[in-house]
Amino acid sequence: MSGKFITLEGLDGAGKSTHQKFIADLVGKGRKVVVTREPGGTELAEKLRAEILGRPMSPVAETLLIFAGRADHVARVIKPALEAGSWVVCDRFTDASYAYQGGGNGVSFELIGRLADAAHPGLRPDRTLLFDCSFEVARQRLTGTGKKPDRFEGEGREFFERVRSAYLLRARAEPARFRVIDASKDVPTIRTAVEKGLEGL
Ligand code: TYD
Repeated sequence: MSGKFITLEGLDGAGKSTHQKFIADLVGKGRKVVVTREPGGTELAEKLRAEILGRPMSPVAETLLIFAGRADHVARVIKPALEAGSWVVCDRFTDASYAYQGGGNGVSFELIGRLADAAHPGLRPDRTLLFDCSFEVARQRLTGTGKKPDRFEGEGREFFERVRSAYLLRARAEPARFRVIDASKDVPTIRTAVEKGLEGL
């Protein structure tokens, strides 16, 4: 595959979405960029997203629906784009499943790994920017948006501390792929860290 696959991760409220356009513009200089998100990114996966975020369900049911959407998204959007030489910037990917379904909701990392092998064999991001901050910082930003919280955003401190720990564990396990960005800083400082985090691709 000739394109590069970049994913953005972090707690709800860490500010990934604020930086997504900056990142797309940065990597888009002189090449085609596809900007997408998960859960979602295809008609089927967006329908599943509404179900996943909108109604209570068991952690395993949630995990299976997320991976169903991901398999469709990879097959229809991500893989064809990378094969055509485009760079893909995706707001969340499988690391979010390890963090939220695994760390947050107690689904085994082993099951998540097997589903990842089935949904996207051989595909992993070339670079993952983890926007890391405390629960307090993330919650304050989320409250500031005034948006109605979705199912995950309504969870409390313990849940998000488990999610954050699972993200940091993955970052430590794969230092060549991950760049951990201190998301508690101001926007210009974060942009500088993002630029540095994308070096060498
Ligand atoms: P996000 O798109 O960041 O929310 P928003 O539209 O509010 O910016 O993500 C939606 C939620 O989905 C987020 O709370 C994390 C959750 N999620 C998982 O639990 N597992 C996953 O694999 C993915 C991709 C997202």
